[in-house]
This record gives sequence, structure tokens and C-alpha cells, in this order.
Amino acid sequence: MAATTIASVTPELENLFSFLRFPSVSTDTRNAPDVRACAEWLVAKLAAMGLATELHETPKHPVVIARNEHVADRRTVMIYGHYDVQPVDPLELWTSDPFEPIIRDGKIWARGATDNKGQMMAHVLGVEKTLREHGELPVNLIFLFEGEEEIGSPNLAAFLLEHREALKCDVIAISDTGMVAPGVPTLGYGLRGIACCEVILRGPKTDLHSGLFGGAVANPASAIAQLVASLHLSNGKVSIPGFYEDVIQLEDWERKMWSKVPGVSDADYLAVTGCAALFGEAGYSSAERTWARPTAEVNGIGGGYQGEGTKTVLPSHAFAKLSFRLVPDQCPEDILKKVKSHLERHCPAGVVMEIRLGHTGQPYVTDPNSKFALAAQNALRLSFNAEPMLIREGGSIPIVQTFRDILGVDTLLLGLALSDAQVHAPNENFPIVNFEAGIRLNQALLKELAK
Ligand code: BES
Ligand code: MN
Repeated sequence: MAATTIASVTPELENLFSFLRFPSVSTDTRNAPDVRACAEWLVAKLAAMGLATELHETPKHPVVIARNEHVADRRTVMIYGHYDVQPVDPLELWTSDPFEPIIRDGKIWARGATDNKGQMMAHVLGVEKTLREHGELPVNLIFLFEGEEEIGSPNLAAFLLEHREALKCDVIAISDTGMVAPGVPTLGYGLRGIACCEVILRGPKTDLHSGLFGGAVANPASAIAQLVASLHLSNGKVSIPGFYEDVIQLEDWERKMWSKVPGVSDADYLAVTGCAALFGEAGYSSAERTWARPTAEVNGIGGGYQGEGTKTVLPSHAFAKLSFRLVPDQCPEDILKKVKSHLERHCPAGVVMEIRLGHTGQPYVTDPNSKFALAAQNALRLSFNAEPMLIREGGSIPIVQTFRDILGVDTLLLGLALSDAQVHAPNENFPIVNFEAGIRLNQALLKELAK
């Protein structure tokens, strides 16, 4: 295992490393104490910076709020981030401990290094630096950090409603999205939404001998395969009736603009994925497919014997975990209704189906040239010394459209995640230069937004 070079660990990196050491996996109840400890560490850090800091309980993981002293007639900027992370499995594929950050090849390796602790800590340390240099910030600041983003932010909307007055602001900024290529500043102006569900098909009351019973009863594993296959047409389109009904078509100016974005050509997608070929909805480029078209994905499928060699068994049940990425103006709840009736209509004979609805998040799109977006573009240009690219995102941050619904404000997405950051996967990493750029970017952003 590569050792950390002690000399290269700056105080900024030390802060990030402490933050990364908490296994704050929000989906796993066994990690609940770690999620809380991480929130408490954050509270101590923000309070030590002189910010008025509060930890708010929710039914699950705490929300952390911090603010400077607000002054009348100054812009109020909210910065959102999440301190929870995705699970680490398969653990055996990590080259180092996911919760013991190390530096190798100029990158920080740990779960959460990019998504979202590294990007979030860049904001915190940018603010710390500005406070140290100037004694105050150019804006009224509200930090809002949650511990449930990776499980769909189930308690944050209620929190926003309850604290609507205290959270009033002019604009929101988030660094939790992508950067198209190293050194290329990227402003996101859209996010896909999401709707998740799980389908379970049950057949015999127990696994059966496939010789004695095969042919006499339906096989749940075959049935789940049929059901999953029914979700798509061979041209890559989703076959669920009404699925595309509310989709806002891509604009010509977007397609033209995106065709010039570096880092998202077919060759780039092939290189970063390691796939032999690309595949998707006919008539769209890879960037268009992921940023502005909805999809149906199988996140997991199972049932029957998974061990070594053969076992002639007819499984008693099988399952598939599905998620749908959505674009404006699709409504996640409406999509889940359509999915449910499609699955019911296509459920093969001889099995009993159960559908468990999962979390949802609304899609989002805004004007990349609004007053605040132009300020963000300036900050990106100044911090990277290059022209910012304007993109939409394939991923989801479920609370962003809810911010607009409840607080009435738009969100600027200043992404620092590279396509090979391995977010949600083994060996997540974040280049030190992106971390440092993020600190500079925060300083420039608050200045630009103050104008
Ligand atoms: N930060 C990501 C989304 C992201 C990553 C956007 C990289 C662009 C580039 C976010 O934390 C995330 O993963 N969201 C989940 C939400 C879901 C679990 C409700 C997602 O998109 O799967
Ligand atoms: Mn994530």
C-alpha cells in the first residue's frame, strides 16, 4: 500500500482527511453513530471558524446549519453539501482502506473524496480562508449540510418548510457535480431527477429441484428476466406507455453548445467506462443521452444459485432493483405510477409480484446565463483561467428542485467531480489540484455574488 507523504499533507488536507475518516454511510443503519459523529465533527469545525452553528435533529440523520453575522442590504448565499456517503462494497476491490484517506498520484483516495466531502470541504475552507484574510465575508452566508442526500433527502423538505424564514436567501451554490475534463471549469444548469423501485417475484414456497419441478411451475428468475426485458425497445427507448409524455425536448442551442464541450465525446465515454461499445437511445450523443434524456436502469437483479459450479435449482423468488432517471418536466410520482401499471401488465403468468416504491427526486433545469449564473461563470473563469463549459448533469441531487419550490431560489452547480473519480464505486478519488481549485473557487464565487 502506498504511504502518505507526510510533508505533502497541508492543514487543509488534514481537515479533509479527518472528515473522510468518518464512515458516514447514510443507507446502513449500523453506521448511524458514524453519521452523527461526522455531523458533530463538522459542527465543531464550523464553530471554530467563528460561525454560528447548529445541529438540527431529523427523524434520521442531523442537518448542520452555520452562518456568519448577517448584515442588511447584503446578498444572502446558501451553500449546500452532504456529509453522507454511499456504501463501500465491494470492499475487496479497493486498493486502500476507503475510510483511511491516502495520497497517491496527486489524488486523495477515499470514499467521499469527491462525492461530496472533498468538494464540500473546499467550500468550508474557502470561507475559512476568506475569514482569515479579511475578517469577514462579502455576503451573508448560510451553510446547509445534510446527511441524507445519498438516500434521497427524505427529511430535508420538511426541514426547509419548518425553517423557511431562517433559510431565506438569494441564491444557492453547490459543488457536487461534474467537471467535463481536468482544468475545464464547468457550470451545471440542470440535473436529472430519479424514481426508484424494487420488484419481487415469488413462485414456489421454497427452492425446488429443477428436474422434478422444472416445466411444471413458472421460474421466478426467468419471469424477472422477461419483466426487465419488457422495459426497453431494441432501439434503446423505454417502452413504458406515457414515459416520454412530459419530456421537454432538447433545444438546438444546447445541442450545438454541447457538441463543443471537451471530455464527452464517444471516445471519452468508451475510455472512461471501459466498454467495448456504447449503447443508448437512437438519435442522441452520449452527453445528450445522459444529460437531457430519461432512462430506465436495472441497478441489481438476483434470485437462485449464485455460488460456484452448478446447482440444479428452481428459485422460489427473484428480484430486480430499478431506477429511472428523469428530465424536466417528468414527475417522479407519475412515472412510478406508469412503471407500476406497466409491470403489472407484463408480469408473466405463474408468479406473484410485489412492488416496493423507493425514493424519488425531481429533475431540474435553469438559465445558465441568469444574473447569478453569470457571476458563477466569472468565478469559474477567474479560478481556472479558462472559459467555463455549460452543461446539464446526468446525476441527481434530489433537493435542488425542492429548494426552488420551497425557498423560491435557483441553484448554481459548480462541479469539481472528474469522470474518473469513481464516485459510488471502489477507489473513489479527488485530485489535490481540484481540492485547491475548489477553495479558490469558493473565495471568487462569494466575491462575484456580492456584486
Ligand atoms: N453528487 C452526486 C451526483 C453527481 C455526481 C452529479 C457526479 C454529477 C456528477 C450525488 O451525490 C448523487 O450521487 N446523487 C444520487 C441521488 C440518489 C441516491 C437519490 C444519484 O444521482 O444517484
Ligand atoms: Mn453521490
